[in-house]
Amino acid sequence: MADQTAKYLVTGASGQLGALVVAELVGKVPAKNVVALVRRPDAAAALEGHGVEVRIGDYDDRASLEQAFQGIDRLLLISASEMGRRAEQHKNAVDAAVAAGVGFLAYTSVLRAETNSIGLAADHRETEAAIKASGLPHAFLRHGWYTENQTASIPPALEHGAYLGAAGDGLFSSATRQDYAEGDVAVLAADTIQSGAIYELAGDESYTMAEFVEVISAAAGKPVAYVNMSEAEFAGALEGAGLPAPIAALLADSDANAAKGALKDESHTLQKLIGRPTTPWTETVRATVKAL
Ligand SMILES: NC(=O)c1ccc[n+]([C@@H]2O[C@H](COP(=O)([O-])OP(=O)(O)OC[C@H]3O[C@@H](n4cnc5c(N)ncnc54)[C@H](OP(=O)(O)O)[C@@H]3O)[C@@H](O)[C@H]2O)c1
Repeated sequence: MADQTAKYLVTGASGQLGALVVAELVGKVPAKNVVALVRRPDAAAALEGHGVEVRIGDYDDRASLEQAFQGIDRLLLISASEMGRRAEQHKNAVDAAVAAGVGFLAYTSVLRAETNSIGLAADHRETEAAIKASGLPHAFLRHGWYTENQTASIPPALEHGAYLGAAGDGLFSSATRQDYAEGDVAVLAADTIQSGAIYELAGDESYTMAEFVEVISAAAGKPVAYVNMSEAEFAGALEGAGLPAPIAALLADSDANAAKGALKDESHTLQKLIGRPTTPWTETVRATVKAL
């Protein structure tokens, strides 16, 4: 049962995950108790359709966040998207939450944030430390890989007959954004808050990229090979495809660390939170191919 009386706020509500969280939350608690935070006023219309209040705030503007967080009991801080700047931006949100008297903050972190060797984990580690130091009642929702990160590369893979990566035989335990959104809401809106709780969230099944590519190939009826490269070669290929060098390096680093198990998880915590198996990655791959 979800807490029907608390006032909730979801940051990043105009984003892919945030929009799913808002939709899920209004199915569980009265829409009038839900506030969606966006930084662009033009993003408000789609969210207002849910009957929620939209407030404006930017992670780079602490005062705007403090104002937006007034009267909020439970806040979901969805991690920001500007790599390398996120820790500073999240710290603004945490300080604003303290100043506004927010009662509980849940943060979308990364699997095993304290020890995860993946470069993307650094910002999350720093943010978790800031949240702990703030004294705010909190929970860490440590997300694993999104299956959509990988299905996004299906169109070029089909075009070239090759899916590039540097993940070797590393196992990915990915889940969909919808799965994570439901897990996040289960914790955010729980009847009873467990402060300090840490949830390692991931998909039920683990797979290698070679297995992933086999399913793409079978679904499309076209040969596609998984081409495993060194981390440097993969970063170069991503840059060649138009990604900025720092993003290409971070993605190649994620693959190289996945090869060592950084994105594998067998806890099934997400399944327990959402009360159903996570969406099978094979289903997500087949649906993506079918929609092309
Ligand atoms: N675990 C994984 O595999 C994985 C994969 C992708 C992303 N992530 C993380 O999860 C987060 C959510 O994912 P997503 O797919 O929903 O990403 P997304 O679609 O890029 O959404 C990011 C959201 O953050 C908002 N945002 C960015 N900078 C902001 C700022 N300075 N102030 C206020 N809001 C700001 C964006 O607002 P605008 O709409 O105005 O840009 C958007 O609503 C990402 O930001 C990233 O940290 C994890």
